[in-house]
Amino acid sequence: MNDAPTAAKERVLTGDTPTGSLHLGHYVGSIENRLAMQEAYECYFFVANLHALTTRAKDKEGIRADTIHIVKDWVACGIDPKKATLFIHSEVPAIAELTWYFAMLLGYGRLMKNPTIKDEIRVKGLGEEYSFGFLMYPVGQIADVLAFRPSFVPVGEDQVPHIEMTREVARRFNQYYCDVAGSVDDKDHEEAGGVFPVPEAKIGRVARLTGIDGTQKMSKSLNNAIYLNDPPKVVKKKCNKIFTGRGSMDDPPVLKGNTVLEYLDAFVEDREKLAELRAAYEKSEIGDGHLKKEAGEAINAKLEPLQERRTKISDDDVIDILKDGTRRANSTAEETLARAKEAASFGFFKREISFK
Ligand code: TRP
Repeated sequence: MNDAPTAAKERVLTGDTPTGSLHLGHYVGSIENRLAMQEAYECYFFVANLHALTTRAKDKEGIRADTIHIVKDWVACGIDPKKATLFIHSEVPAIAELTWYFAMLLGYGRLMKNPTIKDEIRVKGLGEEYSFGFLMYPVGQIADVLAFRPSFVPVGEDQVPHIEMTREVARRFNQYYCDVAGSVDDKDHEEAGGVFPVPEAKIGRVARLTGIDGTQKMSKSLNNAIYLNDPPKVVKKKCNKIFTGRGSMDDPPVLKGNTVLEYLDAFVEDREKLAELRAAYEKSEIGDGHLKKEAGEAINAKLEPLQERRTKISDDDVIDILKDGTRRANSTAEETLARAKEAASFGFFKREISFK
């Protein structure tokens, strides 16, 4: 990583809404960054199970199963509970409390201008039928982040508007309640007495991986994803359907907006081989089918060790990992909340969170 940590380890926080298996877009967009960052930073990775309620409030069993599933995906990818703190959203009450304070620091109009919110309403076909809680989730996300006072937030590109709002709220809180002057640089907010740092989004190696249909980003709701636990046969099948932009076999190869080329670039580790494949394709020496097969092989090579590791993690292991991590997460988040309340003159009593 370029961002060499300073003496005390800087913090990193990110989370995933449990919606089923993680897919390749998550992997190159955020998981890879987490793997690198867990080596050098104090990392907090959490299952945003409360966020799953925004669109599936009735699906209690599904959300619970997906919560366990996603932790298995993480550990399968190499996220190490000995290095990073893995925790569960719904057992960290400080986050919900901070949400209340932060909600007051954000204009309603500003929230509705958030492009990710607008996109989600459109893509998920929510129309006018979204809950109040759906609109509240970006505010909750601000609290998810700031409760841990991180320097960096590894996310996919679509989450950047949320991090932008997080930065605005951090600045405003520090200005209103901690006497940080409006002229203070983002990086100096804590030094100037602010409770919160102004955290930065960290975008992955591939900011936005296209779905196999070649239209939009890979996503479960668009049914265009290759999942980390797809068996090799399924991966092959999906790869055969990858959009290449070519209308008919007789057309010349399409070099821009060709999803199979995008995948090869993302997953073929041997860069010389990649260059050869590209060159042969451009000259029409090899066709779409050849590239699709290569993409499938590269993806399966990446997924095989993950899937192997995944079989060794039980549900009970996941609960143990989460309990241990959530304890640590609460200790950090409670400290943040206490400081924030103190600053806002809401600090009346001291308290402790403990699990049975
Ligand atoms: N909204 C994020 C997503 O859908 C998940 C998330 C919730 C998150 N809270 C967060 C990501 C805080 C980063 C930081 O992917």
